[in-house]
Amino acid sequence: MREIIIAGNWKLNGTIPETESLLKGLLDGNSQNDKVTVLVCPPYTSLHYAHKLLEGSHIKLGAQDMSAHEKGAYTGEISADMLLTVGARYVILGHSERRQYHAETDELVNAKAKLALAKGLRPIICVGELLEQRERNQTEEVVGTQVAGTLSGFTAEMVQQSVIAYEPVWAIGTGKTATPEMAQEVHKFIRERVAAVDSNAAQTLPILYGGSVKPGNAAGLLEQPDIDGALVGGASLKAADFIGIINAV
Ligand code: 13P
Repeated sequence: MREIIIAGNWKLNGTIPETESLLKGLLDGNSQNDKVTVLVCPPYTSLHYAHKLLEGSHIKLGAQDMSAHEKGAYTGEISADMLLTVGARYVILGHSERRQYHAETDELVNAKAKLALAKGLRPIICVGELLEQRERNQTEEVVGTQVAGTLSGFTAEMVQQSVIAYEPVWAIGTGKTATPEMAQEVHKFIRERVAAVDSNAAQTLPILYGGSVKPGNAAGLLEQPDIDGALVGGASLKAADFIGIINAV
């Protein structure tokens, strides 16, 4: 039985007042499910405050990105140590929005993931194809390259500490979800690719699906054998919807 993770990626949302009201909604609501690791990833500026609100609760905290550098003259960057001191234990890396708007490459994501692991942060490494790549039947080629590149040099132990999220770019924020069968096919493919690093670690690795996950479509996705949770964008900004997804498990 693999760990099931429901993670909320708040993206560029979550001022302090918004963070307070959303987290109170989750803490006061029925957001605890013993089968599920529940995680929220607010923006950097709300992490410390979120950590205070969540202390002692079942909800874990992650960041949405981090620097590949440990410290130094990198204006605007946030380091792994900084994330750890504000209570983050997970970090999303290589999200398609970082790849698209900040030109992040597999090589950079790999460097960030290695640093995160060395520091004791659990990386959630994102992969996924563009619409035109899917239409050209290049999904496996694209996702396979991303998996190999972002996990390059990983040991079995490093895979064991990691999480992968498959987010088809055409399904993010569009309301178009991959069908459970389409998603399952890619998740199975990813697990096979990771098995090239270590077959046991591939079996225990949580692979999350992301892209327009809502309370209404979560159960169908989560019942697939290789889908081990969800990375939720829009629906993680409403406590009732996020709780609905947690309880779809
Ligand atoms: P949406 O759930 O808004 O489609 O976003 C998915 C996503 O990008 C999560 O990281």
